[in-house]
Amino acid sequence: MEKIILKDVIKYYGDRKILDIKELKIYSGEKIGVVGINGSGKSTFLNIIFGKTDIDIGKVIVNGNMSYIEQLKSNDTYLSGGEVVKKQIEENLNNKYDIVLADEPSSNLDIEEKEKLKNKLKEYKGTLILISHDRNLLDEVVDSILEVENGSVTKYKGNYSKYKKEKEQKEKRKEFEYIKYLEEKNRLEVSINKVKNEAKTMKKTPKRMGNSEARLHKRGVENKREKVEKSSKSLETRLGKLEEKEKPNEKYNIFMKMPEILKLKAKFVVSSDNLNIKIGNKELLNNVKFNIKTNSKTALIGKNGSRKNHINNKYIRRKFKYKYKP
Ligand SMILES: Nc1ncnc2c1ncn2[C@@H]1O[C@H](COP(=O)(O)OP(=O)(O)OP(=O)(O)O)[C@@H](O)[C@H]1O
Ligand SMILES: [Mg+2]
Repeated sequence: MEKIILKDVIKYYGDRKILDIKELKIYSGEKIGVVGINGSGKSTFLNIIFGKTDIDIGKVIVNGNMSYIEQLKSNDTYLSGGEVVKKQIEENLNNKYDIVLADEPSSNLDIEEKEKLKNKLKEYKGTLILISHDRNLLDEVVDSILEVENGSVTKYKGNYSKYKKEKEQKEKRKEFEYIKYLEEKNRLEVSINKVKNEAKTMKKTPKRMGNSEARLHKRGVENKREKVEKSSKSLETRLGKLEEKEKPNEKYNIFMKMPEILKLKAKFVVSSDNLNIKIGNKELLNNVKFNIKTNSKTALIGKNGSRKNHINNKYIRRKFKYKYKP
C-alpha cells in the first residue's frame, strides 16, 4: 500500500530551488535512508512530508499516522543534547505510529544509546524514512537509499554500501564519457580549422600563365575548394550532432589555513585538582582532577547526561585565552 506520495513537488527558498520531485511513492513497511551533503535539502524533504513546511507547487499525500524525530530540536530544559534526542526517540519511535520520520537520530547519542537506537529501528515494523550520516546505521537498518542532490531525489535499491558502490561506478562512467566527448569535440574542431586554413591558402592563378593553362589551373583549384568545403561542412554537421555530455561534479580539495599553534611554555594547558560544581542541590561534578598536556589532543567521552559540558568551567586553571562554543 502507498503510504506517501509526492507528485510534481517543487520547493523554493528565495530563488534557490531546494527540491524538484516529479513523482515519488513510498510503500508500507519500506525502510529508506536519506543521504546528501549538508544543505542539500534532506530536512526540508522530511519537513514537507510531515507538513511542517509548505511547498510551492505539487501534492503530498500521506496515508497513516506519522511521527517525527526532528534534527536539533530546541532545548529549553536542563536536558543534555543526548537526553533530548533520547526523549524524542522514546516518544516517537514505537509501533503506535505507522510512519516514522527521523532526522539524524543518532547524533549526540553515546555508544550504548546508539546501539539501542539501531535495534529499535531494526525492530520497527512500520514505514521508516531515516536521514543519517552514519553509514553503519544505514547499512544495518535500511533497504533503499534516497539521494538528495541538486534538488532532485534519486532512489537506489539496497543499503548504503551498495548505493556507494553504484554511485562511484556511475560517476566514473560519467567522467569517462565526458572526457571522450571533449576529445571528440576537440578532434573535430581541429580538423575543421585545418580544412578552413587549407581553403584560405589555395593558390590564386598566377598572372604569367597562358590562357589555357590558367583555365586548367582554375578548374583544379575550384574542384579542390569544393572538396574542402564539403568536408568542412560534413565535419561541422558531425560536431553539431555530437551528443553533449554533462560535466561531472567537480571534486574539490579542501585547504584550510591553520593558525599558528600558540607557543605555550607551560607543561599543562588546562588543569584542575579539586573541581566541584553544583546547580541548585544537584551535584554535577565532585572532586574532579585532571591535567591536559600542552599541544596534546584529548577526547572527552562519557554517557549522555554525564556532565561533559561542565568540564568547561570558570574554576579550571587555564594558561591561555580561548573561545568556547557550546
Ligand atoms: N526556513 C528556511 N528559510 C530559508 N532557507 C532555508 C530554510 N530552511 C532551510 N533553508 C536552506 O535550504 C537548504 C536546505 O536545508 P536543509 O536543512 O533541508 O538541509 P539538509 O540537507 O538537512 O542539511 P544538513 O545535512 O546540514 O542537515 C539550506 O541551504 C538551508 O540554508
Ligand atoms: Mg538537516
